Amino acid sequence: MSHLPIDLLEPADFDDFLRYLNDHLSDNGRGDTAYFQPLPRDDSRFPADKADAFQAGMRTPLDAPGWRRVWVARAEDGRIAGHVDLRAHPERHATHRCLLGMGVDRAFRRLGLGGSLIEHAAHWARASARLDWIDLQVLSVNAPAIALYRRNGFEQTGEIPDLFRIDGQRLAYTSMSKRLDTVK
Ligand SMILES: CC(C)(COP(=O)(O)OP(=O)(O)OC[C@H]1O[C@@H](n2cnc3c(N)ncnc32)[C@H](O)[C@@H]1OP(=O)(O)O)[C@@H](O)C(=O)NCCC(=O)NCCS
Repeated sequence: MSHLPIDLLEPADFDDFLRYLNDHLSDNGRGDTAYFQPLPRDDSRFPADKADAFQAGMRTPLDAPGWRRVWVARAEDGRIAGHVDLRAHPERHATHRCLLGMGVDRAFRRLGLGGSLIEHAAHWARASARLDWIDLQVLSVNAPAIALYRRNGFEQTGEIPDLFRIDGQRLAYTSMSKRLDTVK
């Protein structure tokens, strides 16, 4: 369990967040880090054309399509150590569920921060947004993330083999869900 404070990302801090995210994405599929985003190694940046929709989602009310909320954990010097985000499903009639994305900076891994970020997001999803499920998709090669999700109450619901062909590899995608409506 990490003790770094976790706070909602304000729209004004988005550029700071984007710098952190692009640095984080530069690890994708490199060295000891498994692929964690379905992006080629040399193109592992946050797509510029998605930035507007991402920011708009942070301002969208929870009862409207396209909402998104982002929380960041900050180290003592103020730099972002990790993030978690929840967003609406794109399908209609799925407003009782949301999708999760997350990451922890390479300097802050294995300290319990990933677990704390999931716990924070799950508490908000249940207590504030009254949601019943959190869903996610994760590359099947990303064993650290799958272990983290299992440990925090996510169960596998499916797997699509060979969904992505990236950098000459065939990558499967695993779907997982965490039930919230059993939590008091
Ligand atoms: C996956 C990730 C978020 C884990 O964050 P973290 O803060 O290191 O996770 P925690 O310290 O809370 O780990 C909790 C548990 O998850 C599992 N886990 C985490 N990293 C692991 C690893 N490298 N290998 C095996 N299990 C791992 C372990 O069960 C761990 O408990 P333990 O340390 O007591 O053994 C982090 O490695 C990361 O950001 N990776 C790159 C981006 C990514 O994969 N994002 C998620 C998918 S998009």
